[in-house]
Amino acid sequence: MDFKELANKYKTPLYVYDLDYMATQYQELKEAFKGRKSILAYAVKANSNLSVIKHFAQLGAGADCVSIGEVRRALLAGVAPYKIIFSGVGKSDDEIREAIESDILYINVESEAELGRVELIAKELDKPSRISIRVNPNIDPKTHPYISTGLHDNKFGVDIESAKRMYIRSKNSSYLEPVGIHFHIGSQLTELDPIREAAEIVADMIRSLEVLDIELKFFDIGGGLGIKYDDETTIKPYDYAQAILGCLTALDITIICEPGRFLTANAGYFLTKVLYEKKNGEKRFVVVDGAMNDLLRPSLYKAYHKIDVITDSESEKSKADIVGPVCESGDFLAKDCELPILEHNDLVVVNSAGAYGFTMASNYNTRGRVAEVAIKDGEDRLIRKRETFEDIIANEKEFLD
Ligand code: LLP
Repeated sequence: MDFKELANKYKTPLYVYDLDYMATQYQELKEAFKGRKSILAYAVKANSNLSVIKHFAQLGAGADCVSIGEVRRALLAGVAPYKIIFSGVGKSDDEIREAIESDILYINVESEAELGRVELIAKELDKPSRISIRVNPNIDPKTHPYISTGLHDNKFGVDIESAKRMYIRSKNSSYLEPVGIHFHIGSQLTELDPIREAAEIVADMIRSLEVLDIELKFFDIGGGLGIKYDDETTIKPYDYAQAILGCLTALDITIICEPGRFLTANAGYFLTKVLYEKKNGEKRFVVVDGAMNDLLRPSLYKAYHKIDVITDSESEKSKADIVGPVCESGDFLAKDCELPILEHNDLVVVNSAGAYGFTMASNYNTRGRVAEVAIKDGEDRLIRKRETFEDIIANEKEFLD
């Protein structure tokens, strides 16, 4: 990929996505589940650009959504309604209503109180709602605490006993149709055992529900497959699938998998240009035009993203922090990076930026969100315009008295 040419053509900061790499990741995971019916419901939160969702939809993917905005994106991008899942711990009445009206595959319910709201709204609409219940299996996924979701300490899902009560209630309701069961223990998972353990617990639950004459059609294993940011040992899709399938002996059930990061992270690059270098005492900083508002992961999680630089500099390397223009000490893209002395306009490439990059961007410091470019079959194409100052103030301007 000619990053220099892309940076010149589209300016920086810039996100660039390799759609062919995304397709390869999709095919590998889909293939791993062959022999069973499966839907890969792409976790739209990872990268919700319409062109990216459309790309996955054309490969046959569904969509895992956490807001009605994401559901609308999925529908607009051409995802079949019967492959769309709506999850999340806090859905508004309007969101629930629209999800039922849109005839999506199911609403993933995360509390008893929410089940009550879904039932009430389905009754008002006189349209039964398909649901699944998100089970919190109380398993430590051994990942960053901010992206761990399967422990009782986390806000997600319900415990096994509550889930059982909720299924029985749903079976007895004319407005709730329990079709699935769901768990998602965390993100950036690099160990298989916690996933297997969770899958076993949830598979046992399916068996105990069958005894109660509650037959589920979908076994939703969430997302979470980790990727290599650095030198992590990752789980192979084949091993992942085998571990899951091993828990489902004698169960006739369709697998739903909700990958986000696995499909997009290593397909994405964040390009930013060097503004200048500076030193505070002995501490060296490379100041670039991209910042934490564009790519929050390093600041929020101390996440590591591999850095490459494109420069003519042949100077000796020394440690530097790569920092942005945002007015926060926590605004950095990399710490203690071994770099040559960089010149104005040299290019810094932040790797593994295709997931939770642009989607977590903000307008902090009145910085417009950056442009996004897709590469497919060797051709580059703008898929989101850079936000202008006018875009940022559009919703305020009319109220200026
Ligand atoms: N399904 C559910 C229910 C989820 O909560 C998530 C992610 C996924 C699927 C997709 O997970 P993935 O395959 O991408 O790991 N902002 C954080 C990640 C937050 C993940 C939230 N849930 C980060 O930048 O690492």
